[in-house]
Amino acid sequence: MARIIGGIGTSHVPAIGGAIAKGLQQDPYWKPFFDGFDDAREWLGKVKPDVVVMIYNDHGLNFFLDKLPTFAVGAAAEYRNADEGWGLPVQKPFPGDQDLSWHLIESLVADEFDITMCQEMLIDHAFAIPMQLLWPNGARTVRTVPVAINTVQHPLPSPARCLKLGQAIGRAVESWDKDLNVLILGTGGLSHQLDGTRAGFINKTFDLMCMDKLVSDPKALAAYSVRDVIEQAGTQGIEVLNWIAMRGALPGAVSEVHRNYHIPISNTAAGLLVLENRPALRVQAA
Ligand code: DHB
Ligand code: FE
Repeated sequence: MARIIGGIGTSHVPAIGGAIAKGLQQDPYWKPFFDGFDDAREWLGKVKPDVVVMIYNDHGLNFFLDKLPTFAVGAAAEYRNADEGWGLPVQKPFPGDQDLSWHLIESLVADEFDITMCQEMLIDHAFAIPMQLLWPNGARTVRTVPVAINTVQHPLPSPARCLKLGQAIGRAVESWDKDLNVLILGTGGLSHQLDGTRAGFINKTFDLMCMDKLVSDPKALAAYSVRDVIEQAGTQGIEVLNWIAMRGALPGAVSEVHRNYHIPISNTAAGLLVLENRPALRVQAA
């Protein structure tokens, strides 16, 4: 059966892609951010994921305000990165895992999540940048299954709903009859607001509380409303929904492997959280 080896939450600010392209990892502005990823990559080298379920939000490449699915799952053979106008080099396509995509889609619909299934899906910075940070040599050694959560056009799904979506993803992966190591990624956040009178808003106390609760008590985050989170974390800080879904997908005993928190990267409080999932022992049928 497929094993969920753990989850990673990371910010997905486009400027990171620019810094990678210019080789600024040792620059004083960027070093405290990029250094945080060494331990994450070392851990990945040990746990060796075959597939990444990538929980993120689409920023307008596939869906815009006129048509925006609450939850969408990719089922493509590959996912092409497209130019969003940030001036970033377009990344080569990321391979999909269509078998796992369809299993996930069937399992989620059976579990009463009426997701949008996408046999074609472009991917933006929220997918590509975390992949570049975690696999910087550009090798396409892992396959991917994108899951996009609407964090843009209200009404948004609640933290409680996103936690449940994650739990349903966890059940789906664990019932997949293939010998695979699966990593769950959640991207975006942490606190940030890009527009309006609170542009530049960051809330370290709230972010650190979220990181703590993501490790040990994710249900505490499910008690927040979308409005509460936006008040505490900024309009785009609501991207923490992707982290909450990631955490929901870890069904075993979860422990923190590594974290980093750095203010600011562009307009954002940049977070990184690496969580290991130790699956409950399965009772073998005699
Ligand atoms: C920034 C952050 C984001 O999450 C995003 O999608 C775009 C820009 C920023 O801080 O610049
Ligand atoms: Fe974003």
